[in-house]
Amino acid sequence: MSHPQKASVKINVHQPQHEISPDLYGLFFEEINHAGEGGLYPERIQNRSFCDGVAPSDFVRDAVDAPADARGWVWQTPTGLRFPMKDKGDFPGWRLEAADSDVRVVADDTVILSEATPRSLRLVFGPGAPRQATLVNEGYWGIAVSAHSQYRLTIIARTEASPVEIQAELRDSEGTVARCLQTVTQGGAWVRQEAILETQRAATNAELALRVTGAGSVWFSFVSLFPLQTWRNRPNGMRPELAEMLAALKPAFLRFPGGCVVEGVSRSTYYDWKSSLGPVELRQGRWNLWGYATTQGIGFHEYLQFAEDLGADAMYVCNCGMSCQFRNPDYFDEALVDTLLQDALDAVEYALGPVHSLWGARRAANGHPAPFALRYLEIGNENWGEEYQKRYGKFYEAIHARYPDLILIADNRVEGAPLDVLDEHFYSTPSDLMRLSRRYDRADRNGPKIYVGEYAVTGECGQGNLKAAVAEAAFLTGLERNSDVVKMASYAPLLVNVQDRSWNPDLIQFDNHRCAGTPSYWVQRMFVQHQGAHTVPIAVDCEHEIPSLCGGFGFVTWESVAEFRNLRVVCDDEVLYENDLSGAFCGLVPQKGDWQFVEGALRSSQHPRDGFCLLDGDAAWENYTLTCQARQIGPGNGFMIAFLVQGQRHYRWQIGGWNNMFMGLEEYNKGGCREICARESITPVPGQWYDVRVEVDHGKFRCYLDGKKLQEAEELPMPTLAAGATLSADGKEIIIKLANGCDRTQVVDLDLGHVDVEPRGSEQLLFHTDPDAENSLDAPERVAPQENQIDGLAARFPYTMRPWSVAILTLTRKPLG
Ligand code: AHR
Repeated sequence: MSHPQKASVKINVHQPQHEISPDLYGLFFEEINHAGEGGLYPERIQNRSFCDGVAPSDFVRDAVDAPADARGWVWQTPTGLRFPMKDKGDFPGWRLEAADSDVRVVADDTVILSEATPRSLRLVFGPGAPRQATLVNEGYWGIAVSAHSQYRLTIIARTEASPVEIQAELRDSEGTVARCLQTVTQGGAWVRQEAILETQRAATNAELALRVTGAGSVWFSFVSLFPLQTWRNRPNGMRPELAEMLAALKPAFLRFPGGCVVEGVSRSTYYDWKSSLGPVELRQGRWNLWGYATTQGIGFHEYLQFAEDLGADAMYVCNCGMSCQFRNPDYFDEALVDTLLQDALDAVEYALGPVHSLWGARRAANGHPAPFALRYLEIGNENWGEEYQKRYGKFYEAIHARYPDLILIADNRVEGAPLDVLDEHFYSTPSDLMRLSRRYDRADRNGPKIYVGEYAVTGECGQGNLKAAVAEAAFLTGLERNSDVVKMASYAPLLVNVQDRSWNPDLIQFDNHRCAGTPSYWVQRMFVQHQGAHTVPIAVDCEHEIPSLCGGFGFVTWESVAEFRNLRVVCDDEVLYENDLSGAFCGLVPQKGDWQFVEGALRSSQHPRDGFCLLDGDAAWENYTLTCQARQIGPGNGFMIAFLVQGQRHYRWQIGGWNNMFMGLEEYNKGGCREICARESITPVPGQWYDVRVEVDHGKFRCYLDGKKLQEAEELPMPTLAAGATLSADGKEIIIKLANGCDRTQVVDLDLGHVDVEPRGSEQLLFHTDPDAENSLDAPERVAPQENQIDGLAARFPYTMRPWSVAILTLTRKPLG
């Protein structure tokens, strides 16, 4: 067993510094991972408007005769991005049970309720006497209901001529959970019918069966099963237990609707707030770049209402005239940019305008005459470059002129326009967040205020483990300590339905009836509950760790095909490895994907992620120079050279990554990446050979292309302890936050100088013997904070921190005299 290591923390409670930003802790909500539909939004019917199978209007089918590949890539945006859309049929979520083979389901794009809902489900009965068929909806991975609860069933349907009878039954493998009878009257017009289903018992895997008896045709445009009980009893409100978990984070603000959904991947897929207003059955179904469609049940109004109910200020992120630059940028023309600017102004008017204004009146008509607390507007999400600068300037000027009190946020550094608040994002490894805990200590106090709009440990984190939570806690001590500059922060993403995990990790996981916070969730809660009012000076002295810097090398591709040849690895004058790669692996081992020799070079297959071929991942090589030639074949990403490969960890130089737009030097570890040098633009020409050279020299990395040094970085030591200290508003409590981000126990010499404290205080502790421990739906509090009383506190005392733990100590000052 290793010896504890020593650290010291000195705190000066007599010099309160800046106020802790009251807006520091907020929420980032995005419709990703079925966070909303199939999650926070409690609609039980999947694809209630029948439009989920309709592709976005500007998508085209990829070469129709080309077979879908493993991910079902069958659609293309107008700018050529091939997009995976699983083939889920015309009506995802629905199926027909018909005893009679003369009953058919047809996707009808002509008999529709409104332009916004371009498809209805037409049930066609064969000729003759009334027949029966049952339409079944499977819900979102099964329908869950509570016992003796009420759910509103709404059906909007029309018949051709004669009336049809619909028997609605909520059922599971044990039988009926609830039942009711409806009749759709004849007349060739849409008829809305509502009924309350009262459950006899609870169920977690039920389905809704609509047994239809009739003749001719019957069209369905909308079928909803919505609980009467929602959070704060809002009609069209939120799922109570998820909303409660969010409310417990006492968010100062709610950012919505994202994230990348703001941008979309084309002109028909960016977030369009106007299409999300009004009766839910008339809201436009929107395909979402996270791979599913929504009915926009949580519309712009509901976001604002939810923020209000949370007691949070609203932060709207608008599209500023381009689609997602990471995926495939489409820079919208001037006319569309102007439309989007007007949309942004209208969105603000909807939230803040008086009831006699155009959009204020719409808000009032939708049930909220008083303005909403929209306080922030972010101009775009994760954009960059000249195109962004132009658009930002235009949006800033117009919006600020009309709403000078609205706080405008830029999603990147800009020049030539005021930059009040800058949004910065960090997704990285535990060691990086430990390092980043000191990032803002050096921030320019005269520069823009910072909003850390997205951050999370995304490497070495399982599906959200203790290690990740500790490193985020360390990072948060840095944000609090510097909250004169860092005014706001929000972890991302917030929610994941465990059945559709398209981003990992997420703060809260859930299925259709259970939910659990990750250890990161508990860190957020601990910090929010123990913010304090003012920071005090703190000095931390601790050991630093340098990551192991030795290992083999290899080639990596990411959803791309690339070729490599003439590989040579040299240390001083000794050749460690040489292979012209014309026909033999000679020790190189394919780890992922197919690697073949084609016309004198080693070629990767189009492996979805991380095609990887490497030589001796356990090698003890420390310093070497790798040279080779490489080229990308076809469109998409370029190629990567991996070095210092050790098991699941390596460093890599990406050339032409991010859709052939950037180069980057990164540390990769168990699925997570950490940039060790800022990404820079480069677009290698597909088909062209490049001379690549990577020098690994005592923790310094230098990367050359065609003889020119393009990137370099140095590996930096990582502090093993992070700490912050604040005072309560009345100055009586001293709150000390500590995060031990290493495998060893640390005995921390806590020195508060000249101050009298009560010997008894409290300790909030997040710890588990296994740093990889996670919470799950079955064990939701395996890693959760414990509250303990601690004794023996004094102006100076040793505090023992267990490996990978977070502690918040609250000490009380003795009254004077
Ligand atoms: O939080 C998930 C995604 O990460 C967001 O949509 C995007 O802004 C970022 O790249």
